[in-house]
Amino acid sequence: MPTTTAYLARSGRDLDASDVFVAEEVPVPALRSHDVLVRVHAVSVNPVDTKSRAGLRTGTRQLGWDASGVVEAVGDRVERFAPGDEVWYAGDLGRPGTNAELHAVDERIVGRKPASLTHAEAAALPLTAITAWETLFDRFRLTAESTGTLVVVGAPGGVGSILVQLAKKLTGLTVIATAGRPESREWVQALGADHVVDHRDLVAQVTAIAPRGVDYLFTAHSAGNVPAFAEIVRPFGHITAIDDPRGLDLMPLKRKSIAWHWELMFTRPMFETPDMGEQGRLLDEVSRLVDAGELRTTATTVIPRLDAEGLREAHRLVASGTTIGKVVLVRH
Ligand SMILES: NC(=O)c1ccc[n+]([C@@H]2O[C@H](COP(=O)([O-])OP(=O)(O)OC[C@H]3O[C@@H](n4cnc5c(N)ncnc54)[C@H](OP(=O)(O)O)[C@@H]3O)[C@@H](O)[C@H]2O)c1
Repeated sequence: MPTTTAYLARSGRDLDASDVFVAEEVPVPALRSHDVLVRVHAVSVNPVDTKSRAGLRTGTRQLGWDASGVVEAVGDRVERFAPGDEVWYAGDLGRPGTNAELHAVDERIVGRKPASLTHAEAAALPLTAITAWETLFDRFRLTAESTGTLVVVGAPGGVGSILVQLAKKLTGLTVIATAGRPESREWVQALGADHVVDHRDLVAQVTAIAPRGVDYLFTAHSAGNVPAFAEIVRPFGHITAIDDPRGLDLMPLKRKSIAWHWELMFTRPMFETPDMGEQGRLLDEVSRLVDAGELRTTATTVIPRLDAEGLREAHRLVASGTTIGKVVLVRH
């Protein structure tokens, strides 16, 4: 049986352990009808990786939900791709992740990699671009004609960094981004934010900019913040959250009839919703916008080794909760 190298996270180890990730020979994944087999050139690490690793109770797991690579083989019903195509995608939380040399993924959630980016630059974007796109255009239902104000809580992070760009390029919204440090302020300004506020003084600083309340609020950091959101969002406004706050109390939002949306980019692949192909299409559109010079990569740290030690280093950076943009690993 042909094998490939996969990098597996081990349970019962912390990131100080040199064997927290191990390289193992595993069978080359068998292709389902809609699958493409991808030779992975670069991956990125997201908080979902660090949370999944920390939550691993037994055995090992192949993490990784972002990749840029080249199609090596296709399943019998694949229509959009052929061997040799350069692709990018996030994948499906219910299947083995991208931390491997060869990886199988459903073509419906795969897009064409931007030709103008290297694999490392490309791998930074898919998971966060899908999350940001679905937030803006599916949850908030924004269009090119939309106007008003959007607060982005956690703008320097992976999702915020592409969401700010998409909102500025594809809608008419005024974007108020949070950033708590001089270097993250500079980063979100360079991405196009109209205003920058400190997330530790959210109510006063947002109210000074939008005294009648903002129309939309995206949050990657919700814990303890709902009362503040209730103050700064206008009556009938909309909030979309992407994080995992425990014991959330949404009652402060009722007085203003504020809508709370959840966005999880894995919902479509996990439930094979009839519209899951929208993820492939939106990745193609993001790719086109990148190649047109409208969007830029959010890669800020490139680790030039896609192996067990490189993963340990990347997980440490992402688990610190202080990364700006994205951490990527590229095959050397
Ligand atoms: N639902 C989904 O589909 C989905 C997809 C992707 C990510 N997520 C989740 O979204 C969260 C964010 O992930 P990410 O990759 O975008 O970013 P991230 O890596 O968590 O972003 C780190 C940045 O966030 C800022 N930050 C830290 N604490 C903050 C706070 N309390 N309030 C506001 N900003 C704060 C910091 O910048 P400053 O302090 O300098 O401002 C830091 O540099 C994670 O919980 C992740 O699991 C969910």
